[in-house]
Amino acid sequence: MNSERIALYGAKLDQLRGKGRLRALRRDSGADFTSNDYLGLAASPSMREALTAAVERGVPAGAGGSRLLRGNHDEHEALEEEAARFFRCERMLYFGSGYAANLAVLSTLPQRGDLIVHDYLVHASAHEGMKAGRAELVSAAHNDAGAVEDAIRAWRAAGGIGVPWIVVESLYSMDGDRSPLSDLIDIADRHGGFLYIDEAHATGVNGPGGIGYSAKLEGRDNVIVLHTCGKALGVAGALVGGAGVICDFLVNRARPFIYSTAPSPLQAAGVRHALTTLTREPERRARLHDLIDFGNAEFSARFGMAGSGTQILPIIIGDNIRTMRIADRMQSKGYDIRAIRPPTVPLGTARLRMTITLNVDRPTIARMLEELAGVIEEERA
Ligand SMILES: Cc1ncc(COP(=O)(O)O)c(C=O)c1O
Repeated sequence: MNSERIALYGAKLDQLRGKGRLRALRRDSGADFTSNDYLGLAASPSMREALTAAVERGVPAGAGGSRLLRGNHDEHEALEEEAARFFRCERMLYFGSGYAANLAVLSTLPQRGDLIVHDYLVHASAHEGMKAGRAELVSAAHNDAGAVEDAIRAWRAAGGIGVPWIVVESLYSMDGDRSPLSDLIDIADRHGGFLYIDEAHATGVNGPGGIGYSAKLEGRDNVIVLHTCGKALGVAGALVGGAGVICDFLVNRARPFIYSTAPSPLQAAGVRHALTTLTREPERRARLHDLIDFGNAEFSARFGMAGSGTQILPIIIGDNIRTMRIADRMQSKGYDIRAIRPPTVPLGTARLRMTITLNVDRPTIARMLEELAGVIEEERA
């Protein structure tokens, strides 16, 4: 009886295998061309020292409860205050992950009768939040500000009287391209709406001092930002920034915030260290941008097309199985490159998503791209 029940899952996995969509966990090994640890902070000696010092001054491993109960620690509050100054937000709220933060914000803030127009390519966690909420949803073509405004106009014309929300990423995780934020804020202003910007991949890397692309929208009460802390900041968690009343509302109503043990205070101490490092060591970002420019130049020399211009360099292969074969061959040559397949990316756009981080150097980037060009050529044949 039991084995029949289990067989069902096995059969579903076989179907995934047949479509080239089966996943399995694989250890990190080889030169890092896949992590989002852009500034090389996660395993840096200074992060280790900061966490050791936090342990020694008595910061606990676990929060012991929800933030609304006994789980609210000095480290969380200190982080939120420092982060609000750093990211130039009126207030910030720390969540255990970007996934939880997107789920919380998008299921809680847009109300019944509101409209959310989201970019077609926003992250899975944003989709989960929007689906769990009560607002009407419209998907707009990627980076098409005109399509966003058309959707709002059509909704108003059909009698929509709530608030329109625009949901985007500032730097897209699987494509490495940038959102037209200035056009989008104009649209939000024109229609009395909010702009929600997931800065996950820009946090710590882009904008003045690494504060993200939303820096130029500082001080606006209709902008809400998400800065994740598990990518360039090298730790984990996420900070939602916006007007004080918005953060108070989340504390009162966001179920993923309320009904969950608060993030480890040690984790918060690590994020505080990352923010301090960004301020004290601007040369880290300068080195990263130098590598990004180098990587993009080498990329266009090898592949005869422009790279994204950012730290995320995708090559769309299309076919799932071929993409996996190329990634496997690169892994066996010592380069950690992963195949990204549907449903993470749209059907028919399986790709190699390469990242440039301070965990590699120029010669390794140049060698990897040369070998990759060779492998792709052979797999074409
Ligand atoms: C654009 C974007 N938003 C949100 C998340 C989720 O963040 P976290 O990994 O902290 O849960 C990710 C990470 O994969 C992401 O790429």
